Amino acid sequence: MRELAPFPALATARLRLRAFRLDDVDAMHACYGDAEAMRFWNRPAHVRRSETERVVRRSTVFAPGKRLLWAVEEAAGGACIGMVNYHNTDLAQRHAEIGYLLRRDRWGRGLAREAVGAVLGHCFGAMGLHRVQAVIDPENVASRRLVEGFGFTQEGVLRETLFLGGAWRDDVIYGLLAREWGART
Ligand SMILES: CC(C)(COP(=O)(O)OP(=O)(O)OC[C@H]1O[C@@H](n2cnc3c(N)ncnc32)[C@H](O)[C@@H]1OP(=O)(O)O)[C@@H](O)C(=O)NCCC(=O)NCCS
Repeated sequence: MRELAPFPALATARLRLRAFRLDDVDAMHACYGDAEAMRFWNRPAHVRRSETERVVRRSTVFAPGKRLLWAVEEAAGGACIGMVNYHNTDLAQRHAEIGYLLRRDRWGRGLAREAVGAVLGHCFGAMGLHRVQAVIDPENVASRRLVEGFGFTQEGVLRETLFLGGAWRDDVIYGLLAREWGART
């Protein structure tokens, strides 16, 4: 994918959401290399730094309207503490899916709420999406609570979609519509 348009940098009270750079590898390895943070991810935790380097390299390539990852950076201090993305986008039907991952030592401070809120604002605002979806492991309580806090509706469960860690896992599908987002903001 090629760069199609300027990167849509976003800002919140405590965070800057910016394009990934190659010097984010060590910071992101604290996320992708953490088995606890990756417990519900659709890939195993990275064992080698080179795996994270490959992912960060891919993350520097963005295609607005298709697939885009933001590095989540603390406004105070400038540390990169994770990522938020949208992917599986269908601009004709105006829907996309979001994903997010933060470093474990930053959990529980409302930072995901800030970062994901900014990305939802972008999706329903600048991108003009009608629907945003999140696909979440049933046991991922933090992630479920996060989207429920934005008013996402649990729409269904896809059974045994992912074989990970020696077992089949289900996916819970959550959706939020533009009018539901608009009613809250
Ligand atoms: C999901 C994740 C991004 C949440 O990050 P966070 O910064 O801790 O979330 P916040 O502090 O903004 O909290 C958001 C909401 O989730 C709730 N929450 C967070 N962690 C929770 C937990 N372990 N148990 C229950 N609720 C939790 C918070 O209370 C808050 O809800 P509230 O506003 O109603 O109080 C983080 O846990 C993470 O990176 N997990 C690993 C990656 C992952 O699983 N990504 C999702 C894949 S679908």
